Amino acid sequence: MNGSSSSPLKPCPGIDQIRPHVPGQTAPAADGRSIKLSANESALGPSPNAIAAFHGAADGMFRYPDAEAFAIRSAIGKRYGVNPGQIIMGIGSDELLGVAVRSYAGVGDEVVYPAATFPMYRIYALSCGAKPVPVPDNGYAADIDGILRAVTPQTKVVIIANPNNPTGTYVPKSEMMRLRAGLRDDIFLIIDAAYAEYVEQADYDSGIELVEATKNTAMTRTFSKIHGLAGLRVGWIYACPEIISVVGRVRSPFNVSNAAQAAGIAAIEDVAFQEHVVAHTRKWRQIAIQRLSGLGLTTTGTEGNFVCFRCPEQDDRNAAALDQFLRSKGISIRAMAGFGLPNHTRMTIGRDDETSACLDAIAEFYS
Ligand SMILES: Cc1ncc(COP(=O)(O)O)c(C=O)c1O
Repeated sequence: MNGSSSSPLKPCPGIDQIRPHVPGQTAPAADGRSIKLSANESALGPSPNAIAAFHGAADGMFRYPDAEAFAIRSAIGKRYGVNPGQIIMGIGSDELLGVAVRSYAGVGDEVVYPAATFPMYRIYALSCGAKPVPVPDNGYAADIDGILRAVTPQTKVVIIANPNNPTGTYVPKSEMMRLRAGLRDDIFLIIDAAYAEYVEQADYDSGIELVEATKNTAMTRTFSKIHGLAGLRVGWIYACPEIISVVGRVRSPFNVSNAAQAAGIAAIEDVAFQEHVVAHTRKWRQIAIQRLSGLGLTTTGTEGNFVCFRCPEQDDRNAAALDQFLRSKGISIRAMAGFGLPNHTRMTIGRDDETSACLDAIAEFYS
């Protein structure tokens, strides 16, 4: 028994420095509608086949799921021409990124990543006692030479989102190869390709080639974006058998539910639906970039299902003021201070009506 009011327990090193991740918010409805463009979820939801498969799995909910997730790994293998034996499924790619980092980095080690990126990388590093090492971007793109310069004998992991959230920039295949070649062999390179399907550039590789050519690189992918299954939490990691064996020992055994596996299989097999989502996203991100540029706002990159832009710095026109104005209209986008870009904001591409309404409201605010 301990009579004092505070807990005598001491969390592991690094935990005290973690600020909890703040997810994209939903604005209260205005004029009977609420438009959420703050979390890069899919505008068009899941394939109808995925919804049917989810319902079809209901009767089996009293059983544990297939711990090896055999069928969904096979479906992914077929879709991308990769070896299902080198895939592990996770509770979103988030679980796998966290597991991958803590499997190879610990107290006293360093985890290097571009500064303006997915805030979870810092949290993964701190939660295993490692030191986060953010490297300033070159413009809005990952600075490969800067990353190489930031490497020290303590560096154990380098993580790059490609394409990057929130900037929408990408690292071409040749640059990613140059990065890998410049890193020591005992440094684990993790390529987070959550938005791979949206990329339009011929010189892009999601990481599959590098994984297959090396023994120290992994790629993570998600069903939360293109497949519209963010609420079901499904992701995967692809790497050489040795890395897969390590990650497989650390992840939770029944991590992906029956219903999530069933819906995921239906989603990945519905290639026509994926193409429809990609076409919609590419069309609207171009329109968004044009309209925002027409307002004098600088956008950062084009390759995700979102558009990030720089707001003026005056108090009544900055990212926070825009956020407040849009919220009053029932629209939520995401100010990017927590992603290392204090003057920027990011809007996810929504449905036709949602994206139009958001762009109209931004134009109203800045005109
Ligand atoms: C770059 C990046 N990586 C990973 C994730 C996490 O995705 P998941 O839903 O698969 O955990 C996100 C989600 O927004 C992301 O933007």
